[in-house]
Amino acid sequence: MSVSETESVRDALNGRPAESADATESADATDATDGLYEVLDGRMSPDQLQDVVRSVLRGEGVPPGEPELEVLKPGTYRTYVDGTCLEIRSRPLPDVAPDTLDHILPAAGSRQVLLTTSGPVSDGARAVFRRLVEKLTLRGQCYTEAEIESIVRAMPLVDRYATKEPALADWALIFRDHYVENSVGFLLGMERAGLDPDWVFALSKGDRTLHRSRVHSWFLQHGYLSDVLDNSVINGSADATAQAYALGVNERVNAFIWRAHAAGRKVLVIDDGGLLAQGYGSRGALTEHIDAAVELTVSGLKRIAGAPGELSIPVLNMARSRLKTMLGYNEIADSCVRRLRAVLPGEKFIGRHVLVLGYGTLGARVAHALRALGCRVSVVDTDVLALITAAEHGFETYRTATEALRDHSPFLIIGGTGELAVTEENLPLLPDGVYLAGFATKDFSLLSEGHPGVESTVVPYVGVRYLLPSGAAATLLGDGRSLNLFEYEGIANRGYDAYRAGTLIAARTVCRDLDALGPGLHLEPVDRAVDEAGLFDAYYEEYLAGARRRAGDAAGPVPATAR
Ligand SMILES: NC(=O)c1ccc[n+]([C@@H]2O[C@H](COP(=O)([O-])OP(=O)(O)OC[C@H]3O[C@@H](n4cnc5c(N)ncnc54)[C@H](O)[C@@H]3O)[C@@H](O)[C@H]2O)c1
Repeated sequence: MSVSETESVRDALNGRPAESADATESADATDATDGLYEVLDGRMSPDQLQDVVRSVLRGEGVPPGEPELEVLKPGTYRTYVDGTCLEIRSRPLPDVAPDTLDHILPAAGSRQVLLTTSGPVSDGARAVFRRLVEKLTLRGQCYTEAEIESIVRAMPLVDRYATKEPALADWALIFRDHYVENSVGFLLGMERAGLDPDWVFALSKGDRTLHRSRVHSWFLQHGYLSDVLDNSVINGSADATAQAYALGVNERVNAFIWRAHAAGRKVLVIDDGGLLAQGYGSRGALTEHIDAAVELTVSGLKRIAGAPGELSIPVLNMARSRLKTMLGYNEIADSCVRRLRAVLPGEKFIGRHVLVLGYGTLGARVAHALRALGCRVSVVDTDVLALITAAEHGFETYRTATEALRDHSPFLIIGGTGELAVTEENLPLLPDGVYLAGFATKDFSLLSEGHPGVESTVVPYVGVRYLLPSGAAATLLGDGRSLNLFEYEGIANRGYDAYRAGTLIAARTVCRDLDALGPGLHLEPVDRAVDEAGLFDAYYEEYLAGARRRAGDAAGPVPATAR
């Protein structure tokens, strides 16, 4: 991957247009008067820093004859490129917070690195400088071995089901999901089960999860392909820059599928319908097609239903599996409520009115959690059975948001429908100062996709404040997508361990039983495979049966190196 490619992936990860790359901007802005400089923090030792610098000086784009590297002291270096002096200085940073969900011992050390040039900057020196910034950023963000061990240790059920499956050896995998730690743990489990790491293409769905850059860096360092295929492109709500970027990603996906098939491999996609929605699951719709898929989300199921062509491959439905419904959703709802509290640390929740739109699998759990906190929760659902269930659980219920908003002035409205839940008709009724928390992207898309006559102001790391035609202000928390995945990891690794183990079981099943499954969406084989594997029993024993942990085992067994 070239420098400009890695820079544009980073921009895509951060939801920014390609021209505003940090490194390019700061390097060029300081060029004319002060030379180039960059400061970056990262988890690396002086030796690792030196290795990266040496590899850049040996690499592509460097003027002929490797520039000599003077080691002034460990972690401090000087070199000359095309007559420009380039200095790299670094120092250890004291007591940085853990940058993983579990803390580890010894804590991962971090260094601050300063890169400077002096004198006129030649084109060759500029290219080397930018490459150094890029490579050191990737290295500094990459998980350390101890951090990776902590992720693996936090997912014992994935480990348990990651036994060798011979069928996996013939497959390549496109894994499109959130860039979070449990995705790393899952893919390492797939490798232990027999998947070749040279045949993994990871794609971020574009949510701004907290550690997305770390995950991306580690994927690249580990040898995977890693890129972004944003959900907004699949949903048709992306801007021109994002669409243009996605065209390039699709080309890389096509090339990966083509290479895999040419090498005699079949291609499995684990996704939320993103690739299938584009026609990769039906013969003839595109030049390349995949061989099987595991579908993870409800919105993915909707996308598949509207995909071009007829589904010609088996797709295992994790989204509606008993495992996801019974176990996964409890953890998802918990992460939604935790995120909500964290993004509004100054807000009072207890005793106040909240409106929950959609009392489905997710919304019902969020409604119960908020009521348990002391919120007075009302519910809107378009499905009468959902309304009956909500009413019989003691919630005040309404058939429409309009009715609910006429009765109460909630300080918070939760979106959990996956549909356009706030409509034009509701806008005049929104109370001034209301917060909108969407856990599905479409719910508040009336505002997030830009509504005529509504002014918006970004509140960094919080959301977007909209001034409505009524004069009221409403703040949509996050970036208009699932709030629990906005600058947040979402679910604890142990919380998603069972779901990821089940996904591994589903992946093994579809790779092994491809011919027996046949084309179409399959739910029963997922539930059966999970049952036959004894995953629920294993989950109960691992987390719930009250088995005593060893002393000092709060974050899993203590690694030998830490004792
Ligand atoms: N943020 C996350 O991490 C996360 C996790 C899981 C699901 N989701 C998303 O949340 C959404 C809901 O998922 P689910 O599994 O709970 O689905 P679900 O089908 O179980 O629930 C949706 C509910 O919304 C109701 N509804 C539909 N349109 C409505 C409207 N206009 N007004 C009020 N109610 C309406 C439906 O009748 C249903 O009861 C989906 O889009 C899904 O992709 C997000």
